[in-house]
Amino acid sequence: MADYEDNKQNTSFTLFNNETGKSYELPVIKGKDGPNVLDIRKLYQETGMFTYDPGFTSTASCDSSITFIDGNKGILRHRGYDIHELASHSEFLEVCYLLLHGDLPSPEDKQKFKDVIRNHTMLHEQLVHLYRGFRRDAHPMAIMVGVVGALSAFYHDSTDFSDINQRMIACHRLIAKIPTIGAMAYKYSIGQPFVYPRNDLSYAENFLYMTFSVPTEEFKISKKIVQAMDRFFVLHADHEQNASTSTVRLAGSSGANPFACIAAGIASLWGPAHGGANEAVIKMLEEIGDVKNIPEFINKAKDKNDPFRLMGFGHRVYKNYDPRASVMKESAHEVLEELNKLDDPLLKIAIELEKIALKDEYFIEKKLFPNVDFYSGIILKALGFPTSMFTVLFAIGRTVGWISQWKEMIEDPINKIGRPRQLYLGKTSREFQKESTREKKSIFKWLWK
Ligand code: ACO
Repeated sequence: MADYEDNKQNTSFTLFNNETGKSYELPVIKGKDGPNVLDIRKLYQETGMFTYDPGFTSTASCDSSITFIDGNKGILRHRGYDIHELASHSEFLEVCYLLLHGDLPSPEDKQKFKDVIRNHTMLHEQLVHLYRGFRRDAHPMAIMVGVVGALSAFYHDSTDFSDINQRMIACHRLIAKIPTIGAMAYKYSIGQPFVYPRNDLSYAENFLYMTFSVPTEEFKISKKIVQAMDRFFVLHADHEQNASTSTVRLAGSSGANPFACIAAGIASLWGPAHGGANEAVIKMLEEIGDVKNIPEFINKAKDKNDPFRLMGFGHRVYKNYDPRASVMKESAHEVLEELNKLDDPLLKIAIELEKIALKDEYFIEKKLFPNVDFYSGIILKALGFPTSMFTVLFAIGRTVGWISQWKEMIEDPINKIGRPRQLYLGKTSREFQKESTREKKSIFKWLWK
């Protein structure tokens, strides 16, 4: 919770209006780490002007104590802990506890938390029937949006968010059920029977079991693969106020049901500029096809007249190597080694592409580095996931971040409904035009030939 009075700086920022000769003092609020912010909450009241920042490139939309990113230095910390340390020493459910509650759990609390999550892994049987309403070839992200949204129709015992117990039940249900929902989306798409969760397995192993096991055979999976899956979830757990998290917060700011808010976050994550990039990376690597074709694709990415971009490269915040990408690269090697696939042609292309791009003036000048999605697709493909499932896996890992950010917002006493304003550039007031005097427009040519 923000204590603005404590964090207010002695300095302020003076805004001078050349037209009126008036100046305005904007208070500066100091962050615990990272850039300070200008407090513009009274700007409109005092100046009659809004700020203009499409894409929020210079706007802090909220205060938060969950995740810190220094994009220039390539630092990512959750509740103060470096992502490298968490990825090396913590399992995913420990990171979930950390994000939700602020500290790493004691051994007793960790066990209790795991037990609570285990108690919620099954879906309501009625919800299981919902899957059958989808076409078999539906994109699993479409199913995720539908099924997670539908959770809001099932849990009437956790809709009073002023009650901490009800809030926490909603958080636990989401973390527990999202792997079941994702695995079932996959099973449905390939026509295999749904596999119910097993509570004797760890979070990651249970997900792999529900996804890849079949009733006819014993399920066996190596520890290294389970570890890689778990680490994938850790690396995706939260990432500050990105598009999907901001979507969850904005939806939640009106007091909407948290399951519906998370469904909105999943929808936002789906896009290729966000979580859909891991799917797009594999498609791109397959299209490149051979190391010798890399220069051609690098040139395409640099060509202003070509919409092609190097997928898995560049980030709004990181102007340095994405710290998650380095762990992911390491993990990719481990997984491929374990599966005897180190000569994977896509891995070779990815390594070479990274090498060439990092030496290229265009990418250096624009500070475009590999992001988390660059190597994650290679791991997921090696594990046997089809590309359409990649973003689902991202959503499973990110659910804890979304729900932690939602919880933080709901618990913040200064929480207000999110309501951005706009710079209006449309027509000013004009007289209503009678139908007989209106011109035929050509924009609908495709409709009436
Ligand atoms: N390939 C080639 N050029 C690029 C790339 C890329 N991958 N990314 C950015 N650029 C160029 C842009 O053309 C632009 O050039 P200009 O200044 O000459 O116009 C400049 O770099 C800045 O790019 P913007 O799109 O303005 O940067 P923004 O911060 O808005 O975009 C984004 C960030 C969307 C991630 C972008 O880098 C991109 O499209 N990358 C590819 C998709 C991708 O990997 N997305 C995953 C992001 S990570 C995540 O969501 C988990």
